[in-house]
Amino acid sequence: MPDHFLGVEGVSVSFGKGEARVRALRAVSLLFERGTFSLVMGPSGSGKTTLLSLLGCLLSPDEGTVLVEDVAVNRLREVERTAIRRKKISFVFQAFRLFHSLSAIDNVALGFRLRGGRQSERMVMARDLLNRFGLGAKLHQRPNGLSPGEKQRVAIARALAGNPPVLLADEPTASMDYQAGRNICQILRSQVDEGGKTIVVVSHDPRWREFADRTVVLRDGQVEQEVKNP
Ligand SMILES: Nc1ncnc2c1ncn2[C@@H]1O[C@H](COP(=O)(O)OP(=O)(O)OP(=O)(O)O)[C@@H](O)[C@H]1O
Ligand SMILES: [Mg+2]
Repeated sequence: MPDHFLGVEGVSVSFGKGEARVRALRAVSLLFERGTFSLVMGPSGSGKTTLLSLLGCLLSPDEGTVLVEDVAVNRLREVERTAIRRKKISFVFQAFRLFHSLSAIDNVALGFRLRGGRQSERMVMARDLLNRFGLGAKLHQRPNGLSPGEKQRVAIARALAGNPPVLLADEPTASMDYQAGRNICQILRSQVDEGGKTIVVVSHDPRWREFADRTVVLRDGQVEQEVKNP
C-alpha cells in the first residue's frame, strides 16, 4: 500500500458570496505519497495556491477532508492544527516573505526557532544550511542586498530549517534566471532523494517536469490531468 503523507478528499473551496462567489476548488481529490515530488500546474486562477493553502493547513475547505498523515486536520481545533503545521510543514511563498530587517543567517535561524531548535545550535545550523546553498559569503547581508535568486535560496533554507518532512512551494523559481532556477530545482530534488521529504511545487515553469515524479494539472478548480513523469 502506498504511504500517503498528504491528501485532499472531495474538497471544495469558494470565496465570496452571491454574484461574486468564486469556486476555487470543486470536489478535488489528490494524494501525495511520502518521499515524492509533485508538480502542480494550470492556468492562472485554476486553484493552485488554494490547493497549497489547504495542504499547508492555512485554509479549511467548505466541504471534504484535508489529510496530514491520515489525520483529518480540518476537523481538528485550531491549536491542534497549528501544532501539526509547525512540526511537519513548511512553505516557500512566491514573494519570499523574508524579514527585511534581519540578515540572511538570522532569517534562517528564525526558521529553526519556529520548529523548536536549541538556541545555542541555531546559528551553527543556519550557517551550515546557507553554506550548502552557496551563500556562505552572504550570511550577514540583509535581503535588500541579495539578488532574487539569492533571496529565494535564503527563503528555501529557512523553510528547510528544522527539517520539516513536508515542503510546499508556490512558484519558487518565478523571476529567476535560467541557472538560478535550475539550481533551486536540483536543491529540492535532492531533498526528496536524500532527505526523504514530500514536496509539492506549484509552478508555471515547465522545466520542473524533469525533476518531479508526477505532474497534476488543474483547470477551473478541478484536476484536468495527472501524469507520472518518466
Ligand atoms: N482570498 C481570496 N478571495 C477571493 N477570491 C480568491 C481568493 N483566493 C483565491 N481566489 C480566487 O479563487 C480562484 C483560484 O485562485 P488561486 O489563487 O488558487 O489560483 P492560482 O491557480 O494559484 O492562480 P495564479 O497562477 O494566478 O497564482 C481565482 O479565481 C481567485 O481569484
Ligand atoms: Mg497562485
